[in-house]
Amino acid sequence: MTKTCDIKVRDGVFHLSGPQMSYIMELRPDQALLHRYWGPGLNGYDGANQPDPAKRAFAAALDPDDPRFSLETASLEFSSPHRGDFREASVALRRVDGHPAGRWHFAGYEIRDGLHKPEGLPHLRETESGARTLAVCFTEETSSAELTLYYSVMDGSDALIRSARITNAGREPIYIERALSALVDKPFEGDELVTFYGSHLKEFQISRRPLGHGVTSIGSRRGASSPQYPPFAALCSPGADEHSGEVRAVQLIYSGNHTVSTERDQYDQVRTLIGISPEDFSWKLEPGESFETPQAVLMFSGAGFNGMSQEFHRLYTDRLFPPQWARKERPVLLNSWEMAYFDVSEEKMLPVIREAADLGFELVVLDDGWFGRRNDSKSSLGDWTVNEEKFPGGLESLLGEASEQGIQFGIWFEPEMISPDSDLMRAHPDWAAAYPGAEPLLSRSQLVLDLTRRDVQDYVLDTLSHFLETYPVSYIKWDMNRHMTDAGSALLAPDQTVHRYMLGLYRILGGLTERFPDVLFENCSSGGGRFDPGMSFYMPQTWCSDNSDGLDRQKIQYGASYTFPPSAVTAHVSAVPNHQTGRNVPFATRAGVAASMNMGYELNILDLPPEDKEQIRRQISAYKNERDLVTGGEFFRLCSPFEGDVCAWMLTDPERRRAVIYAFTPAYDAAQIPVTLKVPYLKEEQLYTDEETGRSFSGCELKKAGFAFRFDRGDYPAKKIVLRTDMSKEAGNDHETV
Ligand code: GLA
Repeated sequence: MTKTCDIKVRDGVFHLSGPQMSYIMELRPDQALLHRYWGPGLNGYDGANQPDPAKRAFAAALDPDDPRFSLETASLEFSSPHRGDFREASVALRRVDGHPAGRWHFAGYEIRDGLHKPEGLPHLRETESGARTLAVCFTEETSSAELTLYYSVMDGSDALIRSARITNAGREPIYIERALSALVDKPFEGDELVTFYGSHLKEFQISRRPLGHGVTSIGSRRGASSPQYPPFAALCSPGADEHSGEVRAVQLIYSGNHTVSTERDQYDQVRTLIGISPEDFSWKLEPGESFETPQAVLMFSGAGFNGMSQEFHRLYTDRLFPPQWARKERPVLLNSWEMAYFDVSEEKMLPVIREAADLGFELVVLDDGWFGRRNDSKSSLGDWTVNEEKFPGGLESLLGEASEQGIQFGIWFEPEMISPDSDLMRAHPDWAAAYPGAEPLLSRSQLVLDLTRRDVQDYVLDTLSHFLETYPVSYIKWDMNRHMTDAGSALLAPDQTVHRYMLGLYRILGGLTERFPDVLFENCSSGGGRFDPGMSFYMPQTWCSDNSDGLDRQKIQYGASYTFPPSAVTAHVSAVPNHQTGRNVPFATRAGVAASMNMGYELNILDLPPEDKEQIRRQISAYKNERDLVTGGEFFRLCSPFEGDVCAWMLTDPERRRAVIYAFTPAYDAAQIPVTLKVPYLKEEQLYTDEETGRSFSGCELKKAGFAFRFDRGDYPAKKIVLRTDMSKEAGNDHETV
């Protein structure tokens, strides 16, 4: 197999391929675009997996001369209602007279170099390596609507990127009721369904279940991708595990309301749909206008969930995150939140900056509480001026101190929100999202700014730009701490939906990050409440949970790593007893969990005994020697905390010269049963030396026989294993034949 991608067309069959993946469609003369195959790479396709269609009762035929062909039983690439396919549709339009418009006819296709970039939405980027896009066009018989389906493949990647565009080429408006990004049909092969569920403090919990008959769906109506059900699903073969088996995953590059559904129907066909949630969605398309769906990433792996993750990690690092940050090592930061909550001040922060610099931190972040009259969550969102009572010297003195100490300074914002008790609200009561005439609901005492309005978008852009020009901070934590209930607007658009809000938000984020490319933006929504590839297009890292407990974090970070590389996940060492759980996880374990990803701290470093400070100094210095693995290495999950008592993962450099393994368990086992960790992914023929014991083992032995160890006594112990090879040590059979 080559590493390049390809799109071949022969006799109406489109064959799209990555290095180890094929995706095949066929255009039928009766105008349907049929799905034929998605799986391990094929060297050709002649329809061996296509049985003759069977005639079924209740089935509606498109062609009266061919009653055996019905959209109900066909594998499709898109579907509209009222045409005999009774499963969930991906595209639904309505004409001005109220009637549905869904009679699509093939109108042509085009193959071109590069990717399709949906306008106004986050998307995968062009790079120096190649990409090809197939655009297949259809026209609608009764309305002059046009539909284009986009399919992109990229060199070196087994991802397929899909999106759709609907254009109104007629003279009357068209109403879009449903415009999903991708629909994929496949035969049921014992598939199991993997999705995430979660909440605040408990993000990225993995759910895996057999796929029964009927529709199983997840989604969000919260105005954010949400920690409840982020936009991801995977179908896997029954025995698939981290290292083997087939996985077909879908993820949406979007941060708003979404749906991901799978339907196993009466004929054992499985339909997967992903896109903007049709619930509470409508879009009036005026003549000449187009509507673009977000991109959906379809990822095939024949090497289990680690294989899937490797592909996602590479794709997002190469083509999603802001390129200037994607592979750049991130500063080790100290955040003020769990140290002081709202009670921050210049008097408190100045010594923190000095101490932080001394301990090896590279960035101090002033979290919530620095602006307006903000002493709790009840006021001041929107009033982004420094509270001079708390900071009499303005921020200049903190920035000055940081610069003198040779470290960076960063700050917290929650720009999408407005407190009822704020000068902004008093000046612009109509800027809060609300349904006219109805009092909007509060959540965390705040309302959402109406980002569907251009003037409000400009206000946010100007306020943040002005701030960044006045105070040259290196980092901004961009928070979003409530979900949407009253997503209305005083300037009601003809089709007021949360999608308009998302387009407004993306416009702001695009404008700001383009204007200030050197500022490191960290995404946050009460932790990982909006941790999705849409936000990651603008912000290379995300605070993945407000839960900083060293035990709970293992599951959260394990789940997040399914599609996000460790560089995208921030993890902080915090104080014990932990503020969220009351648990006392040892320092070394907390540090191991944090150092596995993008490491920071969030505790009062001034209050610590000297031995703890010394530990922090050592932890930071060790992390600095390893963080090239976080931004430039590879990450593999070895043992799942969702399946047993041990959580383990490994970071390596791309050449597999060095491996850092972290293993954790909730409690020491009194029977002293050893853990034997199978360590695949190293170079089998090389000898790796264990840093702790000096003993050497071949990559082959580590993979097949495993590495045995015992945890230290105590609660929540961690084990760090560092293996190195200098590539000169070839493993051989050093046993003499007896
Ligand atoms: C959210 C964030 C926290 C902190 C607070 C401040 O909860 O997730 O890290 O910034 O807001 O109010």
